[in-house]
Amino acid sequence: MSQATQLLLGIDVGTTGARAILVDPADGRVVAGATREYPLHTPKPLWAEQDANDWWRGVVGAVQDALKAAGTRDVLAVGLSGQMHGVVLLDEAGEPLGRSLIWCDGRSQEQCDAITSRVGAARLIELTSNPALVGFSAPKLLWVRQHDPRQFERTRTFLLPKDFIRFRLTGERASEVSDASGTLLFDVGRREWSREMLSALDLDPSLLPTVHESPVVSGRVRPDVAAELGLPAGTPVVGGGGDQAAGAVGNGIVRRGLVSSTIGSSGVVFAHSDAPARDPGGRVHTFCHAVPGAWHVMGVTQGAGLSLRWFRDEVVGPLERQAAEAAGRDVYDAMAESAQAAPAGCDGLVFLPYLMGERTPHLDPHARGVWFGLTAAHRRAHLTRSVMEGVAYSLRDCLDILVEMGVPVDEIRASGGGGRSPLWRQIQADVFGRTVLTVNAAEGPAYGAALLAGVGAGRWGSVPEACDATISVTSRVEPERSRAEVYARGHETYRDLYARLKTAFPRA
Ligand code: XUL
Repeated sequence: MSQATQLLLGIDVGTTGARAILVDPADGRVVAGATREYPLHTPKPLWAEQDANDWWRGVVGAVQDALKAAGTRDVLAVGLSGQMHGVVLLDEAGEPLGRSLIWCDGRSQEQCDAITSRVGAARLIELTSNPALVGFSAPKLLWVRQHDPRQFERTRTFLLPKDFIRFRLTGERASEVSDASGTLLFDVGRREWSREMLSALDLDPSLLPTVHESPVVSGRVRPDVAAELGLPAGTPVVGGGGDQAAGAVGNGIVRRGLVSSTIGSSGVVFAHSDAPARDPGGRVHTFCHAVPGAWHVMGVTQGAGLSLRWFRDEVVGPLERQAAEAAGRDVYDAMAESAQAAPAGCDGLVFLPYLMGERTPHLDPHARGVWFGLTAAHRRAHLTRSVMEGVAYSLRDCLDILVEMGVPVDEIRASGGGGRSPLWRQIQADVFGRTVLTVNAAEGPAYGAALLAGVGAGRWGSVPEACDATISVTSRVEPERSRAEVYARGHETYRDLYARLKTAFPRA
């Protein structure tokens, strides 16, 4: 890196922690990165809350650490990304009122039902492109209004998690189209707040922030904050994106035909779309993309990497984890290696990864995890492999809906845990019956946010141009024909199992 290089700062306000990375726009290299963790509060079943001040402290620490590691404070622009859908309520003085209900909080089904009956299921999809789901912001706002009216009366501003960080950095109450899409208050087709939704839900429009396109400069870092973080005062801060849209930019999913399959805690199949393609059944989300004038469609499986982590913690157990670590190995690598001993299709053992209910395709918070077809001949390798296959089947369900909707799928890029593991990549290629690629960029949302910052600062002319300059394909896995039949049968059993079991899952 030359002395004169100005870096791009990408920030991701995640669920487990805040990540800050510095990217050299000359070659797209990540020069330095740092993460600061913070707590998640789950005081009751279905409840999930975080403290907006924890996010802020996490961001400040991560930015300070990243700048220190890079040995520079020469930052050209800042991009923000973050967990979507959470509600940060600010009082008159701009201070958060209580903890924020976040994306995985599931307490607002009653409010979802009320929204659907007030607006009408079909009209809701026409207006916002999506159905009312407990994950989205509007039902959470209505929950607070109903259950904590004093807090709601004191509320002057509603912001999304990363936009609270923007507010602290710049003083601006602003958002951008991709994150605003997940509120259920946004007209995704027109890329503006929906007056009809606001009036149907009796919400004051003055609560809402200004909305920009993702690469547009939304404000500048205030002098007092700049001194605290170690950034130059006045550094531009661009709109950025919700974590899925920003992560897609970080994988180069910015043109028609490009699709990503990302296995984090949740699993997401994300497609770029030139039009706001909608599923009348609302099984996939249709949101604005972080690419101006483009949209995206995504299917979300709740328990993807989460299922394998659960398996690691509850079935593999601490002794073997320690053994892998003592041998200097990543425990997931050791698990994947042992899973190779089981054949494709796991001799009839099928896993449903519904440990946290399911979004796509079932929209069923009551669905539960299942192992089906166990015999005494099954070994632990079968159990491990069946979890990986079950997650791939759930991602295939997401992909099938996109194809059914006519969304073009020319190239699938795997990222997250499913991109790093060669076995999981192969399983995905086989189960999808399509080539699966990986790219050089591994940072996801923070990287996409940094690229958006570079576009806003004029370093590149457009988001696709930024991706072309920095992201390239590094590997390619072809589906193996000889396994196609066994996986087709496995997927059929997988689908049939949910259909048969759905009324048997406990409702409470
Ligand atoms: C997207 C979603 C998650 C959260 C947390 O709809 O719920 O991606 O943004 O990562």
